[in-house]
Amino acid sequence: MTMKSRFNAPIIVVSNRLPFILVRKEDGTLERKQCAGGLVTAVCPSVIECNGKWIGWPGIQLKSEDEVIPESNPDDKSPTAGLLSNQVEPVQVEPKIFDKFYNGCCNGTFWPLFHSMPDRATFSNETYEAYKQVNDIFAEKILTALRKCLAQLDEEGRMDAAPLIWIHDYQLMLAATTVRRVAEDEGLRCKMSFFMHIPFPSWDIMRIFPWDDEILEGILGCDLVGFHIDDYCLNFLDCCQRRLGCRVDRSRFLCELDGRTIHVKSLPIGIPYSQFAEMSRNAPKVLKEKEQQIILGVDRLDYTKGLVNRVKAFERLLEKHPEHIEKCILLQVAVPSRTDVKEYQALKEEMDQLIGRINGRFSKPNWSPIRYIYGCISQEQLSAFYRDSAVAMVTPLRDGMNLVAKEFVACQDLSDPGVLILSPFAGAGGMMQEALIVNPYEIEEFADKLHRGLQMPFDERLLRMKHLQRREQAMDVTFWLNTFLSAVGILPCDVNYSPSN
Ligand code: F6P
Repeated sequence: MTMKSRFNAPIIVVSNRLPFILVRKEDGTLERKQCAGGLVTAVCPSVIECNGKWIGWPGIQLKSEDEVIPESNPDDKSPTAGLLSNQVEPVQVEPKIFDKFYNGCCNGTFWPLFHSMPDRATFSNETYEAYKQVNDIFAEKILTALRKCLAQLDEEGRMDAAPLIWIHDYQLMLAATTVRRVAEDEGLRCKMSFFMHIPFPSWDIMRIFPWDDEILEGILGCDLVGFHIDDYCLNFLDCCQRRLGCRVDRSRFLCELDGRTIHVKSLPIGIPYSQFAEMSRNAPKVLKEKEQQIILGVDRLDYTKGLVNRVKAFERLLEKHPEHIEKCILLQVAVPSRTDVKEYQALKEEMDQLIGRINGRFSKPNWSPIRYIYGCISQEQLSAFYRDSAVAMVTPLRDGMNLVAKEFVACQDLSDPGVLILSPFAGAGGMMQEALIVNPYEIEEFADKLHRGLQMPFDERLLRMKHLQRREQAMDVTFWLNTFLSAVGILPCDVNYSPSN
């Protein structure tokens, strides 16, 4: 018996990466490997339920366009397990072009620029050409998937159902315009939406990009454009008005282009809250040996995350308040990321040297101040780290949202809650006001906040954490998903959007 779908049409999700990666086994066959983050956990069940599709890069070069994608393993319990191979559309790009697209334009240009760090950005015709080429390849895939979905709907007699094409993130800002043009020419019915997972910069920054008009028009190819917070929406509207001359309505978040009205929406993404809470309840105790207080940092090794400032603030804490020596440690997890990009290699070097210097300076025979894990850890282990830490430092220099702050909150045991130290430059910083907010550039104040966090009385920790938990539980990733899908009209508005449990 097939479950009745809540959705009035299929969803075609488009993201740079598929929700799993493919690996080639020794015998030459392919296998799925899970890399489920919060987005995948939330979105995948909906794609399965509505018989939709997911288009993205599988992380590997296939032997041919037609190489068969394996089904999931029977023992696979991940959210992607029910995603059938005919629901997955792998995108293939020639490696040299993909390198220019991904390392060159996405990570070398848009990433620093959109995080308001233009000095780190490089601009080149060649990498932008590759970006356009790859976006065209994605657009072709979207159109093929759309035609298949429409044929299926027509066969079922559902001529009024228009599939939703949902494009994600800065890697794919041009795909929508191509899809819209062809869909209009061919009379293919669809709705199109976009969600940006990173910040959207101010006009002053955006205008540095030589082809900013094309990028803005590309995003405006959609009917609904989502960002995490109001500030990013307003930046986007401002750019559309000043660069493209669009008429915009800042109070209702609307933009007009070529007689079309595009809706802009701020919708902060959440996490699978109950999943993290449960994981932390069951994870074995791994920390708090020798009564030391743990100060935790968990980040991709990325210059936007403010890792260097954070480690320096920790060093300053030990200088200013030597009573913490041998009483606390900094546990920093740095997940390797974009290791082919020069800026990321330089940051790795800098961190290695800085941590080595501080450990050399303060270590005692049985104690070293910084424990540094450069690698991936499991979600179970992570949830135990979150639960057992006295303080978490989520202090990016700029960040679209930051889910580590939310995961830390979900994992807290209220019998001994930890303290969240949060940067105002993360999307989360504007909302999670009960955290200790600190400017990561002010090392002196940062060290003071760390001291305060380590000493905060139980009642204050509890009060702050209760508020933080309540909000994150209510605004979890399912809430985010349902709200977005109802705004674009793919879910009926009378659905009860309570968080998952
Ligand atoms: O949050 C932005 C983002 O690019 C996501 O799309 C991605 O999951 C994450 O950062 C990691 O980036 P990458 O896919 O380049 O490893």
